[in-house]
Amino acid sequence: MQDLPSPRPAPGQVRVRVTAAAVNYPDVLLIANRYQISVPPPFVPGSEFAGVVTALGDAPDDLAPTSGPGTVGNPDAASDFGRVSSLGTASNTRSADNPDTAGNSGAASHLGTAGDLGAVTGLGRANSFGTAGDLGAAHDPGSAGELDTACNLAIGDRVTGTVLHGAFAEEVVVATGSVARIPDGIDDRTAAAFGVAHRTAYHALRSVARVGSGDHVIVLGAGGGVGLAAVQLAALLGAEVTAVASSAAKLEAAASCGARNLVDHKASGAEHDHARALREALRATVPEGADAVVDPVGGDLSEPALRSLRRGGRFVTVGYASGTIPRIPLNLVLVKGIQILGFQFGDIGPEEFRRHDEELTALLATGRIRPHIGATYPLGETASALRQVADGRAIGKILIDPR
Ligand SMILES: NC(=O)c1ccc[n+]([C@@H]2O[C@H](COP(=O)([O-])OP(=O)(O)OC[C@H]3O[C@@H](n4cnc5c(N)ncnc54)[C@H](OP(=O)(O)O)[C@@H]3O)[C@@H](O)[C@H]2O)c1
Repeated sequence: MQDLPSPRPAPGQVRVRVTAAAVNYPDVLLIANRYQISVPPPFVPGSEFAGVVTALGDAPDDLAPTSGPGTVGNPDAASDFGRVSSLGTASNTRSADNPDTAGNSGAASHLGTAGDLGAVTGLGRANSFGTAGDLGAAHDPGSAGELDTACNLAIGDRVTGTVLHGAFAEEVVVATGSVARIPDGIDDRTAAAFGVAHRTAYHALRSVARVGSGDHVIVLGAGGGVGLAAVQLAALLGAEVTAVASSAAKLEAAASCGARNLVDHKASGAEHDHARALREALRATVPEGADAVVDPVGGDLSEPALRSLRRGGRFVTVGYASGTIPRIPLNLVLVKGIQILGFQFGDIGPEEFRRHDEELTALLATGRIRPHIGATYPLGETASALRQVADGRAIGKILIDPR
């Protein structure tokens, strides 16, 4: 960890004292240089945060930063995570570092492939509670302008936001259009954990898969950030949910979020032919065929899930956390009239996006949905948090607490 000068926001930017930051899979990809956008190191990772506005770009920089002097050294920083997280950028104070670097080359090997690129544009667009994050804006320039004018922020406002990198720090400077106020009644941790995963899941379910009441939805990666949010939201939409995950603990979380059927694809007996075991389990669970599949995992789970669709079912590919892009025999699509659909935030029209976001915010504000926070790490243990996500061990969202 290093202490850096408090960043000064330029006009059009704000400085936010970060109270909670959420780890997202694209953070792992960016660090491993497997992301759609390449960021030359050194940089501070972290793309989603909540906090308090402490300075405005067009106002005197009158609130001093809180970080003290001194540095927590990291003698083992020569690693993938350490390389990019130890040195920081001008816009971060006391950045996250990687104290846990041994064998990190192994971690890089499963952080995704170029195929994950389809999965990584999801960090923001114009919306009510959410933000037009730098990352999203890079892929969807059309959405950035309206948000820039929508922000009317003051020092002391509680905000949540997204940024390409920089949030695993005590302070982050971002464009005003990349943050939005947190509604009263929603705490910072909830706000930080909610944005990317729930928004991804909701738009995938509603805008892409067109899930409605009575549908049967299979969710892969159902214990992860996007997957658990998809379970929760699909159940709320009135769907019967079959959750597919790799451990009893993940499936327990999925059950608590409303999944009715639970499939452990790593259960004993599934070791030798993963795909066949999943296919058989799904056939037994959904004999009539599912209406939709939400797939943030890819790899060898995708085809058996797709085969479990009924005629005319929808398969939504959201990401490839397994690191492998599946190859699907097209005859399956033809024979069953299946639709395979990709999800990208940029593909959703602004009106639909705003409407869905308002619905999501209302669900959150009334307590009908809550992000599942699986673990919280102090800033100094950010590398461990990233590793938990990189290894697919996270349950729900993993938070960083920089306070
Ligand atoms: N299209 C978009 O706009 C968008 C937006 C957000 C996220 N995404 C993408 O969606 C994917 C999932 O994101 P997430 O936040 O839900 O991630 P996550 O919390 O880490 O969950 C990913 C799940 O993938 C499975 N998995 C299998 N092999 C894995 C491996 N080698 N490493 C990590 N996970 C593995 C795990 O489920 P099991 O229990 O089955 O092993 C894990 O729970 C990522 O690829 C991300 O980039 C896309």
